[in-house]
Amino acid sequence: MNLRVKQQIVILISLFFMGSLLTVGYIESERLIPKKKAKAVVTNKNLSCVKCHSEKTPGIVAQWKESRHATLGVGCMDCHQAKEGEPDAWDHEESLVAIVPTPKDCARCHEQQAKEFAVSAHAVAARNVGSLDHFRELVAEGVAPAAGGCQKCHGSAIKVLKGGQLDPLTWPNTGIGVLNPDGSTGTCSACHSRHQFAPAQARQPDTCAKCHLRAEHPQLEVYGESKHGILFRARRGEMNLASVEWIAGKDYTAAPTCATCHMSRTKGQPVTHDVGQRIGRALGPIVSEKREGWEKKRKNMQSACGACHGPEFVKAAYVQYDAILDGYNEKYAAPAKKIMAALGKEGKLTSAPFDEKIEWTFFELWHGKGRRPEELTRLYVSDFIPEAEALSPGIAARLLKGK
Ligand code: HEC
Ligand code: HEC
Ligand code: HEC
Ligand code: HEC
Ligand code: HEC
Ligand code: HEC
Ligand code: HEC
Ligand code: HEC
Repeated sequence: MNLRVKQQIVILISLFFMGSLLTVGYIESERLIPKKKAKAVVTNKNLSCVKCHSEKTPGIVAQWKESRHATLGVGCMDCHQAKEGEPDAWDHEESLVAIVPTPKDCARCHEQQAKEFAVSAHAVAARNVGSLDHFRELVAEGVAPAAGGCQKCHGSAIKVLKGGQLDPLTWPNTGIGVLNPDGSTGTCSACHSRHQFAPAQARQPDTCAKCHLRAEHPQLEVYGESKHGILFRARRGEMNLASVEWIAGKDYTAAPTCATCHMSRTKGQPVTHDVGQRIGRALGPIVSEKREGWEKKRKNMQSACGACHGPEFVKAAYVQYDAILDGYNEKYAAPAKKIMAALGKEGKLTSAPFDEKIEWTFFELWHGKGRRPEELTRLYVSDFIPEAEALSPGIAARLLKGK
């Protein structure tokens, strides 16, 4: 081999190494330097809004600019537009503006999500406030403070003043089932913080925990202390929350969040905005019954579990869940319900709720104290049964021993 050939080989090898180094350098820099954000597109009808609000409310415009909406040219008036004659049309800077965009406005482009949300328990949450379940709080706290508290989660009616501005006593209000001026119910911004509308934020447990917490509905506490919640906190950085599809088992495996199980995509399920679609049992009533179509609904839920657990494990988890509820129903809920019905028939109870002591005790069997196993037995044996016996001697023996 002459010197010239050797030189050429050395040059070739050097070039190859330099090429590799440059390629690796490029790949690494792509990873480290965040991708350039797509630019916000301001269309003609939104020019004046963006211009003036950049000064008057810079936070809102900045959040909008970070949204996917902005990059696609979906702007202020696509959501805030109002027509002449609509109850909430507000004459604002030469445009007719609705201050509260509702699911009806979103439905123009997100029909599927709006439809699913509209048939869910979330959308009727304001109407349900009047029913008896939380009546005790109404009695104990008085109607005014109760209404103030209830509506933060459940929602209540937003009232429009003359000229399209809103009654400050009823708005702001993003309770989940809020009754909107345009006749629609519920609000998407209970979970989707405006104006970014980022799925990554909606997928966080905190989004749901804003309402699903405390003794009456302790989902946050149950989740937080479960292995799922512990792992979510420990491995939050690995949750890939901003990925596009966010499928359990594909985009992340560290832990499930509330959304994973109740709403998000799984290998076999699309996103659903009807949070009842994956729930087989109604846990609200004292005797927790299976819902219509419960088997299918459970399968829907189990398609989430399957990303991280084996099928026998999942089946067994549900066996344990059902056993706890069936045991509770059989031992406490069904007999107590039977006794209350009999006391009513015998004329020992008035039709007014919560005016007899035993009605409070009965309520506590599945709210508050009754949720703690050691308290439950005491409450049933030492309070509920003696109170029933005092009203109608021998009632427990008559009903429960079939005499
Ligand atoms: C010249 C400035 C200006 C322009 C143009 C403008 N706004 Fe406003 N906007 C304001 C100011 C100031 C307020 C504060 C409330 C007020 O006007 O009393 C406001 C309030 C609002 C509110 C909330 C009302 C409240 O009580 O908090 C909405 C919604 C709104 N603007 C949307 C829009 C939209 C959509 C456009 C485009 C058609 C627009 N604005 C154009 C200045 C402007
Ligand atoms: C994708 C729909 C959407 C777009 C686009 C949008 N908004 Fe909103 N905006 C909402 C929703 C939803 C609310 C919350 C209404 C409620 O429930 O009270 C809201 C509330 C507001 C409010 C009142 C709340 C507050 O904090 O003062 C203002 C002002 C406002 N938007 C201005 C704008 C401006 C300016 C733009 C354009 C830069 C814009 N919006 C774009 C949906 C949108
Ligand atoms: C004029 C049409 C239009 C309106 C009105 C509209 N959106 Fe959108 N929205 C879009 C489009 C287009 C996308 C992008 C869809 C895609 O990526 O496939 C989008 C995406 C989204 C996303 C996902 C964002 C992301 O980063 O992936 C959410 C959440 C969302 N919209 C919520 C809402 C809500 C809530 C409202 C009503 C307050 C609303 N949108 C009103 C057109 C609209
Ligand atoms: C912190 C948020 C929050 C507050 C405040 C709140 N609720 Fe609730 N409420 C919920 C949640 C979440 C559920 C669903 C619980 C579940 O399914 O486990 C619920 C369920 C209910 C139900 C049962 C609905 C059904 O059909 O099963 C009624 C009735 C109710 N609440 C009434 C009230 C009343 C009355 C008040 C005020 C005294 C009130 N709530 C205050 C969050 C709240
Ligand atoms: C109870 C909370 C909640 C409410 C209320 C809610 N969303 Fe969502 N939404 C979510 C979650 C969580 C995701 C993310 C799902 C995922 O993992 O991709 C999402 C995703 C979306 C997306 C992204 C598209 C998709 O299918 O992934 C759109 C669009 C959207 N929501 C629109 C709406 C509209 C419109 C409303 C009101 C009619 C609404 N959302 C109400 C929780 C909610
Ligand atoms: C603004 C308050 C609020 C937020 C935020 C919220 N919820 Fe709810 N949720 C409620 C209320 C109130 C009810 C009870 C509605 C009723 O039955 O009247 C409820 C009911 C439910 C139910 C029972 C559905 C059924 O068919 O009985 C599920 C499951 C649920 N929510 C899951 C979620 C998840 C998951 C999230 C977050 C992605 C979430 N919720 C966010 C207030 C909220
Ligand atoms: C690992 C999956 C998983 C996670 C994570 C999860 N849930 Fe659930 N959730 C379930 C299952 C399973 C049920 C019972 C379903 C059945 O009865 O078939 C349930 C029941 C519920 C119910 C009761 C509905 C009723 O009948 O009243 C509510 C409300 C709820 N979950 C909300 C939440 C909230 C809020 C979070 C987060 C703080 C959460 N869940 C986290 C799987 C999950
Ligand atoms: C994204 C992954 C993921 C999903 C989805 C998921 N889990 Fe888990 N689950 C885990 C991890 C990780 C653990 C913790 C295992 C450990 O610590 O040893 C766990 C723990 C558990 C445990 C406690 C086991 C123990 O050793 O104490 C039960 C029960 C459980 N999961 C049931 C379910 C059910 C039922 C579903 C569906 C409704 C589900 N999981 C969905 C990841 C997941």
